[in-house]
Amino acid sequence: MYRDHVGMRLWLLAFSALSLQAWEVPTIVSRKEWGARSQTCWAPLTPPVAYVITQQLPGMECQQQDVCSEKLRALQSHSVYTKGWCDMAYNFLIGEDGRVYEGLGWNIQGLHTQGYNNVSLGLAFFGAKEGSSPSPAALSAAQDLIFYAIRKGHLSPWYIQPLLLNEEMCLAYQQPATPRKACPGIIPRSAWEARETYCPRMSLPAKYVIIIHTAGATCNTSEDCMSRVRDIQSYHIDNLDFCDIGYHFLVGQDGGVYEGVGWNIQGSHTYGYNDIALGIAFMGNFVEKPPNAAALEAAQSLIQCAVDQGYLAPNYLLVGHSDVSQILSPGKALYDIISSWPHFKQ
Ligand SMILES: *[C@@H]1O[C@H](CO)[C@@H](O)[C@H](O)[C@H]1NC(C)=O
Ligand SMILES: *[C@@H]1O[C@H](CO)[C@@H](O)[C@H](O)[C@H]1NC(C)=O
Repeated sequence: MYRDHVGMRLWLLAFSALSLQAWEVPTIVSRKEWGARSQTCWAPLTPPVAYVITQQLPGMECQQQDVCSEKLRALQSHSVYTKGWCDMAYNFLIGEDGRVYEGLGWNIQGLHTQGYNNVSLGLAFFGAKEGSSPSPAALSAAQDLIFYAIRKGHLSPWYIQPLLLNEEMCLAYQQPATPRKACPGIIPRSAWEARETYCPRMSLPAKYVIIIHTAGATCNTSEDCMSRVRDIQSYHIDNLDFCDIGYHFLVGQDGGVYEGVGWNIQGSHTYGYNDIALGIAFMGNFVEKPPNAAALEAAQSLIQCAVDQGYLAPNYLLVGHSDVSQILSPGKALYDIISSWPHFKQ
């Protein structure tokens, strides 16, 4: 009905707080009105918050209040019983019908974006057909809600919507390119003797590339790198309880690209992004010294090849792990380099 990992699709709410044109008090359907069960979340949100996070929930198509309410009740049950959360993850949910449905409301922290929950309002668009953008009514309701939040002191007038994607509307319509050539030089799982796993699939094409460092030892021969990759897989499965090795690909100082989970399977690198971002990890610690030229070139040609083969949307965004997670990865020296790469977006 809906995916477990909600696609973190960010919609440009195309306005600014300065363009205070006519706006209306949004119609907010209360929890009581949509038949929510009582919630047990308690972490308070201190107003005014500085961020707005918007996401889209696929697979919850609805147009009318009663149908939308029913979908929300199912989402709430799923969040509580399947995910084990105290409630659904968002402060407000915006339907295709242009109604705003109360989630956790103004005063309770959401569970939508690690690192942002205590400083943001999380808004989820739902009800659109899979792959399409929110309706004009929904976008306008979001705008009204945001102006209302600013006026009522829930949201800072200088709020930030992180990782805004102007291009997002186009992303939704990208189809994988048809001619599929093999990517040169990827060392397959069979070569490094990967353990067999059964993990959730990616939504392709991916929309982000996340650059990561493993922070552990590096390697400069293919024998060492294969043994490193094997150790990382075991560590991720046995100690971190991941489904498989957490990255899509790993790059060694030998200039080799090692297949992690590969193109078609979700990684476990970045909460909220695993089903829409390719996680590429440089093996080693790159806080002080960047990876060598061979490794950097290997990663760049991998990214190019991902676009050529339709695994990655042509207007993808490239980010550092630390841009989307509270983490030092990929290390300052590497971060400084990728920030000049094409499609980089902080
Ligand atoms: C939000 O949480 C982070 C990490 O737990 C903390 O460092 C920060 O001070 C919190 N911010 C607010 C406004 O509570
Ligand atoms: C390769 O790594 C080893 C240690 O693992 C190091 O001693 C050696 O200098 C490295 N070789 C090159 C060419 O960087």
